[in-house]
Amino acid sequence: MRAWVNGRLLDDPRAPAVRVTDHGFTVGDGVFEAVKVVDNEPFALTRHLERLVRSARGLGLPEVDLDEVRRGVAEVVADQPLPRGRIRITFTGGEAPLGSGRGSKPPTLVVVADVMNPWEGSTAVVTVPWPRNERGALAGLKTTSYAENVMALTRAAEHDASEALFANTAGNLCEGTGTNVFYVLDGELRTPTLDSGCLAGISRGLVLEWYGAHEVDDSVDVLQRAEEIFLVSTTRDVQGVHRCDDRSLEAPGPVTREVAAVWVEKERENLDP
Ligand SMILES: Cc1ncc(COP(=O)(O)O)c(C=O)c1O
Repeated sequence: MRAWVNGRLLDDPRAPAVRVTDHGFTVGDGVFEAVKVVDNEPFALTRHLERLVRSARGLGLPEVDLDEVRRGVAEVVADQPLPRGRIRITFTGGEAPLGSGRGSKPPTLVVVADVMNPWEGSTAVVTVPWPRNERGALAGLKTTSYAENVMALTRAAEHDASEALFANTAGNLCEGTGTNVFYVLDGELRTPTLDSGCLAGISRGLVLEWYGAHEVDDSVDVLQRAEEIFLVSTTRDVQGVHRCDDRSLEAPGPVTREVAAVWVEKERENLDP
């Protein structure tokens, strides 16, 4: 693992490096990105940086210095073999008083790179009873306030599943804790719209561009009727779902296999799309 904090590569990436009063640490006042690395090259870095800027603006943080972020990214992947890895970029409100109010100190920027193991071709998911708030202040932003996702993922693990799927407050299918969801209904590939409150996932956007799907908001019950379900994300790429709650599905099904094949081919051609 390599860690770069506020302009400097740490000698020991596991050493303490961020203040205990950092607003990202005390109240989750921060935004982040997870970027896949293939053969030392960050995948879709430009799209991730655009989303980082959108998230920071949405949360009201200072403007992100993208040259500085790119410098950090280059330094954490340099001079080491990293055939498959993950870069985590975190940008927080910086040092602040101990409550929710922001301080006036500069933001904190952390870039970390580590190896990343591939996921299995298919997995189990559960739906959780807590809704995503598609009208909330954080909807669509990739913030570090992820404790809801932690709870949902813990629930998933209790049911031998690796991902939890949320409905939104309208009862429509939304997204997973760290994934977007696609499904096949009557032969048509579908995914929730961004109005559902889901994150505009980079992988979701690329699947829409490279393969295509109907963006539509269906009730979460659609998962009980879907012929296929699959997850997409930076860490999982395209991953079939073989169990959703108590229901078993063929996975990866024919459409999922097609999408996964297109993904592999296009990813090679487009390391920084
Ligand atoms: C809540 C949420 N939805 C969806 C995704 C998938 O987005 P991406 O494809 O950019 O990894 C993530 C990624 O971590 C996420 O945290």
